[in-house]
Amino acid sequence: MNNSNPVCKLLGIKYPIIQGGMAWISGGGLVGAVSAAGGLGVIGSGSMTADLLRHHIRKARSITDRPFAVNVPMMYHRTEETINIMEEEGVKIIITSAGNPAAFTSSLKERGFIVMHVVSSVRQAIKAAQSGVDAVIAEGFEAGGHNGKQETTTMVLVPAVAAAVDIPVIAAGGIASGEAMAAAMALGAKAVQIGSLFIAADESSAHEAFVDAVLAADEGDTMLTLKELSPVRLLKGQFYDQVQEAYKNHATVEELRELLGRGRAREGMLCGNLDKGELEVGQVCMMMKKRMPAGEMIKELIEQYNSTLDRMKGMGV
Ligand SMILES: Cc1cc2nc3c(=O)[nH]c(=O)nc-3n(C[C@H](O)[C@H](O)[C@H](O)COP(=O)(O)O)c2cc1C
Repeated sequence: MNNSNPVCKLLGIKYPIIQGGMAWISGGGLVGAVSAAGGLGVIGSGSMTADLLRHHIRKARSITDRPFAVNVPMMYHRTEETINIMEEEGVKIIITSAGNPAAFTSSLKERGFIVMHVVSSVRQAIKAAQSGVDAVIAEGFEAGGHNGKQETTTMVLVPAVAAAVDIPVIAAGGIASGEAMAAAMALGAKAVQIGSLFIAADESSAHEAFVDAVLAADEGDTMLTLKELSPVRLLKGQFYDQVQEAYKNHATVEELRELLGRGRAREGMLCGNLDKGELEVGQVCMMMKKRMPAGEMIKELIEQYNSTLDRMKGMGV
């Protein structure tokens, strides 16, 4: 464990790298590999039934005895059941996203959890800190998955949140290299949360066709859309085009909801149906070029981070 870094100390991990919880992508295999390598693996429970969550917790634990966490989008109906399973299985770290932290944080703290909440604005960060969370994850507009309506980028959000709260800030969105990690730490973050990069980890649950599409993606190939429902950054493709067509035809929120339907994220990311599916990934996919074991990714991130710090030493003016 790294005792000089407050996030490493809080979580009992070696490196200040959190693998973001990702529905359909981060199961026990990926989570176990990340935690075994010294980061914090996070199970994406948003796509899991109770039994499946239990299975993935046990799978992660069969790989490592180091800490890992579960991400719980708090507006889902299964929240209480998910938290009960975490308690039964002895998982102590919860990353909450969506929902109002004032409604659930004190009860999670009373139940003994370390709580970190994902925010996309300074206002949300202050609210989360006031609710008693242990750390906030400030996620910028570049990030894959669901996102803030304000469109604040990581570069702007992280220092603004760091100035506004006195708990540790973890930066997320657009980070897939040790250089970007160093930049986030320079802005006031004490750790980083990385999602998109781990889609291409050997241990991720992403369908091969989805990974290929992510690795082939270029600048401008992802866009934030469906702001009226829940803003989400998608890889362009047939479904994205359908959404744009619906906007051209002045679709109502109801019509957009109907178009989105159910199960599109599963269809695209887990089953590899690139035409019908919803393909969530961040802008940083334009920098991602290859598959790798998650442990190698962590090792490379730390090497790049340390060499960036060395390089920066000579840059004073
Ligand atoms: C495919 C995918 C699924 C995601 N699912 C979730 C989720 O279920 N809950 C959540 O809080 N964040 C989710 N995220 C966000 C990540 O946890 C993380 O904060 C984000 O990916 C960081 O930005 P990056 O993609 O630029 O690394 C998802 C991201 C991706 C790419």
